[in-house]
Amino acid sequence: MSVKTWRVGVAGLGTVGGGLLQFLAERPDFAPAGGRAVVTGVSARNRSRPRPVDISGLTWFDDPVALATSPETDIFVELVGGSDGPAKAAVEAALKAGKPVVTANKALIAEHGAELAALAESAGVPLLFEAAVMGGTPAVKMLREAMVGDDVRGVAGILNGTCNFILSEMEAKGLPFAEVLSDAQRMGYAEADPTMDVGGFDAAHKVSILAALAFGCAPNFAAAEIEGIEGVDALDIRMAKDLGYRIRLVASADRAADGVAVRVHPSLVPEGHPLAETRGALNALFIEGTRIGRIFIQGPGAGSGPTAAAVAADIADVMTGATRPVFQAPAEDLKPFVAVAPTKRVGKAYLRLLVKDQPGVIAAVSETLAECGVSIDSFLQKPVEDAGGVPIVLTTHAIAESVLTDAINRIEKLPAVLERPRLLRIARI
Ligand SMILES: NC(=O)c1ccc[n+]([C@@H]2O[C@H](COP(=O)([O-])OP(=O)(O)OC[C@H]3O[C@@H](n4cnc5c(N)ncnc54)[C@H](OP(=O)(O)O)[C@@H]3O)[C@@H](O)[C@H]2O)c1
Repeated sequence: MSVKTWRVGVAGLGTVGGGLLQFLAERPDFAPAGGRAVVTGVSARNRSRPRPVDISGLTWFDDPVALATSPETDIFVELVGGSDGPAKAAVEAALKAGKPVVTANKALIAEHGAELAALAESAGVPLLFEAAVMGGTPAVKMLREAMVGDDVRGVAGILNGTCNFILSEMEAKGLPFAEVLSDAQRMGYAEADPTMDVGGFDAAHKVSILAALAFGCAPNFAAAEIEGIEGVDALDIRMAKDLGYRIRLVASADRAADGVAVRVHPSLVPEGHPLAETRGALNALFIEGTRIGRIFIQGPGAGSGPTAAAVAADIADVMTGATRPVFQAPAEDLKPFVAVAPTKRVGKAYLRLLVKDQPGVIAAVSETLAECGVSIDSFLQKPVEDAGGVPIVLTTHAIAESVLTDAINRIEKLPAVLERPRLLRIARI
């Protein structure tokens, strides 16, 4: 029997593209249903940059769009990155030319997923993006395939390894954010421009994609509520620890009666919980189904080998004839994404105040909270050296975000309060 050879065009030969080239050079016959995947054409910015494998025998394309539409490309793999620019142009061109596309690009899928799904489905070709969420850990296939017999209530997890590394290091070494960030940059855990990661945008891209897969709606990155970890203070990490919590950047998507809530926040997670125990650059995700119950996955969310493995799994799906819709329903039937207003959020919270060391402060704070209707669950006051005041921490019972904001605004104005109270959510997991 003759073995079909699939000619793979790879745009982007960096961390992920380099890993893929290496894997396919060693294992072109990896796909379970037979066939060979052979890279025949490549595109990157700099032709003379050294690559992990010799590319001199491959066809070089300066323009990824030309590679995407080349008659020699059977599967187009986009590993350039970015929500727009060359990545989007090349993916669109490939789909219009009727080529299956595999990408690791979360920004592209989160921001343009619905229109690209429509293009792919009208051309009758797959658009696959397993590597876009949790790198080598198969979250996309879990929601797109394994959970279709269930109704997903929500997902929550740690989707950005850089933030988790920074928070874990801040906790372990008692160091401030800025110092740990520059260590992380030196060690290659954080980009020179860390905004996408530490600002929460990368996690928001990923959880927007998971929300679309979980709830059958179009991805809507613009509707995500996003807070990064730049404002997480070493003091909060210590105070949270004293209350039995760790701080993690939790990305979640929940289905509510009036829509979908997609959020990324630094959140308190009880010690001993699997998300609190997820340390370093690992990723982790809970998926909650109505019938299946809770599923937990944890694994590498980045890196050349793991991410290239996820890209290769998608290539194998193309070779074996993947025909599912791009999201959980055909693009024309995707539900509009109705975002739940942030003010409607209800949850437990952690408030940290810095106050003057004088009598009557706690009474004034408690009175203000009571007037606003905020019910306190626990209270912690602890002298901390060099804190610039006396830190007071309180946790609340479940409360509407709008009530909490009102209380914070009023507490900030109390004469003994030195700065705006710091709010962190207690994760509902
Ligand atoms: N790194 C990870 O662990 C990881 C994990 C999951 C998902 N992803 C996603 O995978 C994608 C690639 O990430 P990466 O880390 O591999 O990025 P990277 O190391 O920065 O590599 C990007 C590649 O794209 C090429 N490129 C940039 N602009 C181009 C243009 N205009 N035309 C052609 N090629 C161009 C670069 O060329 P030169 O090499 O010549 O500069 C480079 O080879 C991104 O969407 C990222 O979000 C990455």
